[in-house]
Amino acid sequence: MAIRFEEGTRFLVTGGAGFIGSNLVEAILDMGCKARVLDNFSTGKAENIREFADNPLFEMIEGDIRDTGTCEKACEGIDYVLHQGALGSVPRSINDPAMSTQVNINGTLNMMLAARDAGVKRFVYASSSSVYGDEPGLPKKEGHEGKPLSPYAITKYVNELYARNFYDLFGFPAVGLRYFNVFGKKQDPHSIYAAVIPIFVKKLINSEVPVINGDGGQSRDFTYIKNVIQANFLACLAGPEALGEAFNIAFHDRATINEVYHKLCTLLGKDIRPTYGPDRPGDVRHSYADIGKAASLLGYKPEYSLDDGLEEAIGWYRENL
Ligand SMILES: NC(=O)c1ccc[n+]([C@@H]2O[C@H](COP(=O)([O-])OP(=O)(O)OC[C@H]3O[C@@H](n4cnc5c(N)ncnc54)[C@H](O)[C@@H]3O)[C@@H](O)[C@H]2O)c1
Repeated sequence: MAIRFEEGTRFLVTGGAGFIGSNLVEAILDMGCKARVLDNFSTGKAENIREFADNPLFEMIEGDIRDTGTCEKACEGIDYVLHQGALGSVPRSINDPAMSTQVNINGTLNMMLAARDAGVKRFVYASSSSVYGDEPGLPKKEGHEGKPLSPYAITKYVNELYARNFYDLFGFPAVGLRYFNVFGKKQDPHSIYAAVIPIFVKKLINSEVPVINGDGGQSRDFTYIKNVIQANFLACLAGPEALGEAFNIAFHDRATINEVYHKLCTLLGKDIRPTYGPDRPGDVRHSYADIGKAASLLGYKPEYSLDDGLEEAIGWYRENL
């Protein structure tokens, strides 16, 4: 799907040195638009954005979204904010709930206020499938959220409450995207909080034995990064009925952890039996998205399945790991 913005349109990507943010920056620059990044490199990496350094359309602000002055400076002259900056990971938030709260709630509130005062055209922010918590129904549908199962889920839910409230109070043009297990190039395989696909890929490339949490029968709606990029751009351009709302962003299919592991073994030509460990606290058993709301209000139509995405992502990991 070709989505275009006028050349020179100014985007701010918070968390732009991270996995999703740096992929957004690449897509923005490819359209001839300007990309400013605000990132404190807490989990993001300089190498994710090094290739953009010489591009005159690229600008880097090293700073923290917990600092209001930094957020204000970052929003100056910006058309669209794509707010990705946050501390991801359910286990991280269980280990340090205060830090996740300061960054994800206070930091996002700072960004919303700065974006509101700068009069941006749209504030698109990363929410998460974790907001569905213990709601057992499948597929997950907006409006049917359960009790959050982790501090991380609480932070994302609070972001959504502020976005809705600021739209009602101030007409603040916020759109939330509930990402479901995103994967693709530049996703960090090294962190202790790394996601399952990069962990498996790294282990298999190094011919090591991965540990699967639980029995591996838990399922996820794995979403390739290019679908997420499409959703962000569509959210910038969507009509007023999308404002204050949050949308599931996924492929609308699901695979178990065991299935993904076997797909990766096949793609990488490895035959390694995984070991199985305990379940992770705070994790949901199944996750699978209804994407009807994003389809009808944003025009979202994911083009990359799990298999399409894995093939592209593996090519990148082979060259870069
Ligand atoms: N990857 C997924 O599957 C997934 C799923 C649901 C939601 N999300 C959300 O998407 C967004 C991007 O996630 P990601 O996977 O790219 O993670 P990431 O860790 O690669 O990127 C997050 C970026 O935010 C930056 N950051 C963190 N704290 C900051 C602060 N105080 N000030 C400035 N920058 C800060 C980090 O340095 C990093 O570059 C996050 O909001 C995350 O919660 C991701």
